[in-house]
Amino acid sequence: MCGIVGYVGPRSAQDVVIEGLRRLEYRGYDSAGIAVESQGELSARKKSGKLANLVVELDEHPIPASTHGIGHTRWATHGGPTDANAHPHLSQNGRVALVHNGIIENFAELRAELEAEGVEFTSETDTEVAAQLLGREVESGAGLVESLRAVSRRLEGAFTLVAIDTAEPESVVAARRNSPLVVGLGEGENFLASDVAAFIEHTREALELGQDQVVEITPDTVTVTDFDGGEAETRPYHVDWDLSAAEKDGFDWFMRKEIFEQPKAVADTLLGRWGSKGELVLDEIRISPETLRRIDKIVIVACGTAFYAGMVAKYAIEHWTRIPCEVEIASEFRYRDPIIDPMTLVVTISQSGETADTLMAIRHAREQHAKVIAICNTNGATIPRESDAVIYTHAGPEIGVASTKGFLTQVVACYLLGLYLAQVRGMKYGDEIKALMDELDTMPAKIQKVLDERQRVLDLAAEFAKVPSVLFLGRHVGYPVALEGALKLKELAYIHAEGFAAGELKHGPIALIDQELPVFVVVPPQGRDQLHDKVVSNIQEIRARGARTIVLAEEGDTDVEPYADVLIPLPRVSTLLQPLVATVPLQLFACELATQKGHDVDQPRNLAKSVTVE
Ligand code: M6R
Repeated sequence: MCGIVGYVGPRSAQDVVIEGLRRLEYRGYDSAGIAVESQGELSARKKSGKLANLVVELDEHPIPASTHGIGHTRWATHGGPTDANAHPHLSQNGRVALVHNGIIENFAELRAELEAEGVEFTSETDTEVAAQLLGREVESGAGLVESLRAVSRRLEGAFTLVAIDTAEPESVVAARRNSPLVVGLGEGENFLASDVAAFIEHTREALELGQDQVVEITPDTVTVTDFDGGEAETRPYHVDWDLSAAEKDGFDWFMRKEIFEQPKAVADTLLGRWGSKGELVLDEIRISPETLRRIDKIVIVACGTAFYAGMVAKYAIEHWTRIPCEVEIASEFRYRDPIIDPMTLVVTISQSGETADTLMAIRHAREQHAKVIAICNTNGATIPRESDAVIYTHAGPEIGVASTKGFLTQVVACYLLGLYLAQVRGMKYGDEIKALMDELDTMPAKIQKVLDERQRVLDLAAEFAKVPSVLFLGRHVGYPVALEGALKLKELAYIHAEGFAAGELKHGPIALIDQELPVFVVVPPQGRDQLHDKVVSNIQEIRARGARTIVLAEEGDTDVEPYADVLIPLPRVSTLLQPLVATVPLQLFACELATQKGHDVDQPRNLAKSVTVE
């Protein structure tokens, strides 16, 4: 959601900014713009639509060469995705250009104040308020950094602001509250961006900023202060993936590449978790075993696909630890006044580590003195930084808007947490935990097998290109898999899709079934699971009403064969681990169907990769 790039150094600012914005396209946006300073004047170009439109505009109406500039991809909130509303916004006096990610909640009163002073606004955005305020501050004689601090103190809501000033051609400044911003540390050049992908081809050294901080970069310096000018704490870190991880590498879509990266992502997330003393180790858990033994409730909070990973986790964690575990959508969590206290362990799951709803849930939980563990894929992101502990998934950068390897590695991290809690609380013997860890270690090869046998699922996509609606059914951990299959189809193929707990079918959804409707069913492993037969009965009920059944079941499941119009075999795994193999065909199906429909799989309409506003 909104991508921001700022650059100062010896290179062409236009080249660095446009390339940086290209690498942030995956975040989701509907207009783009750039501003540079040259010879004491600002030049800006802004276009609605894709970045390619801005590039054409720059070809037709070039801006002067400059080594100092800012750029932005905007995901519209206040005002439609028009050229005028695109960022950067310039102050009326022409002194400053500014880009913004977030929502300025008190923009209406600030706008009224500025209009009363004679400022004429040229857009409908909340952002322009910040640009005009900054223009007024610098005009009054304060330096750019000091002016930005003053503006930041007046703003309410969530914002990353990045600005340049014609009077300070060697600086780019930024302020951050509740929205993402990282600094890229180069040699004789420095960068500001929403995430490291924007500058990874120039430097892998980064600086993580905290809340309510202002940063000034020049070619040779990076200075960070708080909003009052006091000292601020930052954390330098090295990005452990390189440019190739952010390239498609011969695949048509990042999403497809990421689906195929899942065996490695799962293996990397499991790596190094079994210690030399023969026990599960989670180095990043900075909460003492004594505290974890006192926990009497777990609440998992997340959004979208990460929420479904949390649903899988509930089954595993309750089964292994016998600790009551709730799962809640982050945007609902704090507004219902949840019952949490110092004995509650709140587990948040977020691939990006920047999802605003999840972040706000953490803050609420910590205010109630609960302990918070984040499961996150992004080093240095806000969510792990504000949590008591973190378990990093090692999926590498996930660029496709639809989460795939993010999901599988989140599920793995949840298993690790569940087993760790069982170990710490003495709920499982060491050899039981080792047996489960051994089975987890077999999962990358099993996921690979599903990928190798993908052809049947890809063929299905061609058959179903025109269906208006699809159902997904599952029970137990198959239920969140069904929900995830439906979400993938909605977000990529723009097809109406619903996931249901198969047992709920007779309580209403069965009325939807007719001969046109394809129904995917996730069947629990045969013989070892009491729900298997019940799901087979559910499939017969669907078939009796004429629907087409696409059944995902363990290879060799002879009970289900007669009732499957299409059978997608899954490798043998224990029930709790089945989501790691059962989700993959559904990801492939959605990706392929969207491709056949001619959709942009990596950047589906209206979606943003990282939802940084509530
Ligand atoms: O970065 P997060 O894991 O916090 O993101 C949560 C959701 O926004 C995300 O999973 C979303 O549902 C994806 N588009 C699903 O594919």
